[in-house]
Amino acid sequence: MINQRNMKKLLLSILLLAAGAGAFAQPRALDTTPPLRLDTKNMTLLLSAREGQALRYVYLGERLSDKDLAGVRYAGALNAEVYPAYGQRTMQGDAVAVTHGDGNMSLELPVREIRTEETPDATLLRVETKDPLYEFYVTIFFKAWKDVDMIETWTELRSGEKKPVTLRRFDSAALPIRVGDVWASHLYGTWANEGRLVQEPLTRGTLKIENKDGVRNSHTSHAEVMFSLDGKPQENSGTVLGAALCYSGNFHLEVITGDSDYHRFLAGISPDNSTLTLSRGESFRTPELAFTLSTEGLSGASRNFHDWARAHRIAHGDKERKILLNSWEGVYFDINEAGMDQMMGDIAAMGGELFVMDDGWFGDKYPRKNDSSSLGDWVVDRNKLPHGIQWLVDAAGRHGIDFGIWIEPEMANTVSELYEKHPDWIINAPDRSVVQGRGGTQVVLDLGNPAVQDYVFRIVDDLMTQYPGIKYIKWDANMNVSSHGSSYLKADRQSELYIRYHQGFAAVCDRIRAKYPDLTIQACASGGGRANYGVLPWFDEFWVSDNTDALQRIYMQWGTSYFFPSIAMASHISAVPNHTVYRVTPLKYRIDVAMSGRLGMELQPKDMTPEEIAQCKQAIAEYKQIRPTVQFGDLYRLVSPYDNRGIASLMYCAKDKSEAVFYWWRIENFYDSHFPRVKMAGLDPDRMYTAYELDKAPGQRPLSFEGKSFSGAFLMANGLEMPGGFSRDLTGYASRVLRLVAE
Ligand code: DGJ
Repeated sequence: MINQRNMKKLLLSILLLAAGAGAFAQPRALDTTPPLRLDTKNMTLLLSAREGQALRYVYLGERLSDKDLAGVRYAGALNAEVYPAYGQRTMQGDAVAVTHGDGNMSLELPVREIRTEETPDATLLRVETKDPLYEFYVTIFFKAWKDVDMIETWTELRSGEKKPVTLRRFDSAALPIRVGDVWASHLYGTWANEGRLVQEPLTRGTLKIENKDGVRNSHTSHAEVMFSLDGKPQENSGTVLGAALCYSGNFHLEVITGDSDYHRFLAGISPDNSTLTLSRGESFRTPELAFTLSTEGLSGASRNFHDWARAHRIAHGDKERKILLNSWEGVYFDINEAGMDQMMGDIAAMGGELFVMDDGWFGDKYPRKNDSSSLGDWVVDRNKLPHGIQWLVDAAGRHGIDFGIWIEPEMANTVSELYEKHPDWIINAPDRSVVQGRGGTQVVLDLGNPAVQDYVFRIVDDLMTQYPGIKYIKWDANMNVSSHGSSYLKADRQSELYIRYHQGFAAVCDRIRAKYPDLTIQACASGGGRANYGVLPWFDEFWVSDNTDALQRIYMQWGTSYFFPSIAMASHISAVPNHTVYRVTPLKYRIDVAMSGRLGMELQPKDMTPEEIAQCKQAIAEYKQIRPTVQFGDLYRLVSPYDNRGIASLMYCAKDKSEAVFYWWRIENFYDSHFPRVKMAGLDPDRMYTAYELDKAPGQRPLSFEGKSFSGAFLMANGLEMPGGFSRDLTGYASRVLRLVAE
């Protein structure tokens, strides 16, 4: 641990060493300076900070005992620069590149000051570096959480130069990864197919994962990655390094494999069409890269992300999520008072706790009848809702549930009163025709403009001051940046558009959270476009995908769970045929998939049969019993849908192992398929667990082990045989959910 006394000793030794060795001595001898040490619960990071030399990694791995500390550097240390800068001895990709005011494109970053700060939760290390020739400073931060296995790192770039400095690259971090049989697991996809898992070995060359949407950043590639360090990725064994760039905008993750013993992993804001200028006294803070190490495989790394997220990164990470009905797939734009009241009554009767009125409730001069108008005009459509929002809030109260509302505040339609008043508020290349998106008329507002930021803040503020009873906001974003240009930014700052957008977005979210800390906010972005740790400090959850088909959701939710906990993953039961892929799956299957995330509904209850209503009511009651385990427990992924074994299976175990929930979904339906028997994980081997099946379909025969008890050891060594074959009980897509309760 680095405390004040140790730090003083360390600084003294740094000064003595620098005096003896000369400030910028090269080449480097074996570093005998005591390394800086940062620990999480199970991870240690050692850094070498010698004054006059670049900050270097010494060790990143399992937590070191004090006995091994002295020997580490002799065992073969990492010896890689923490924040490689372009211009001197650069060969394999740099984290930062600048052009100084006089045109010099090189940068050196020797250490000049080290500070640490201890809080009950974390150790914060701050290493200041300065270019010896220029008034250009980079401060490198590491924050090691003590209660979870996560370290966050970021930098702050500051210029004191007379002439403006151009930042050409400004990554958050660079991490060395020892070459071996290393595999990357990351997510890709598209609208309605988000969070798909891809796993590939690292080979020579560059693996580049990037997103350039401008507004959202997780429809295609995600800003998170896991590296399995000792061979093909395994869910529950092997050493895994996981990393998440906590940013809401364009990013790049790169793994450069050259001729050295280390892959160089770089992560940061994408510099594509995006340079920054720092005038004298200006600074820029890069987003955090959060990284973790697990010796319990991919699932172990996921648990580390989930623990960190719930404790430190997601809004209200310690609060149970409510079971809701969202109106979108039930009525689309067909909003009216009687319909909303009926839906509220129906979800309340099924045991739900919240109703969310989706798109279609607003617009005066241009009422929102479809997606081609009205964004920007956030006044209630009195033809649809003659008694306004308060009537709905009160109606929800009468039904004993909460009320939530949909908005899309960062956007406008060119058919709107807002656009008529402020055509200069949109993002579009100056003097060019307006590129319009969804509905043929959607445009993105220029959030880099402080006037637009005020306006966006006021959308939420007006709603919340007029209707303080609103408990939930679904914040949507359905367009990317399609045309590069800002009427607000000066001509020589147009290249900052993407970054200023997300700084503006952050500023608005900060203001909203300062005033409305208790509001629940969902990040929706044409489905799962905003599943990232850049937005989650302000948002409670995200909509995983507009595709609610249960089968495809198994794949998407599997991938998404690599990095995000179930409390953040909105997962809704919807109608069949599914509205996106038209697949027909049994209600039980749809419930069993939705129950593995933050359960909700996305349908018109009045179209359900009394039997279906009864089944959902029962499932909601059961979900309430397992909610603490699902939303706060430890996730163990057991059989991957990506492994083509005909099933997928995962489970959540309560932290105290007093209970668990086991999910089993058939994903293939061929006669004569033979599925693996699934061994469980995460249980207490010495305790006895009684098995109860949840969400039993009407008339379904009980499982042979219903109400029977088994030791955790038995369940982890053998599992329980799920009924195979086909029968009336098990037609089409079959699934099982078991609750395991310790005696
Ligand atoms: C896209 C979202 O993903 C949907 O859930 C829905 O809210 C629509 N927008 C509304 O326009």
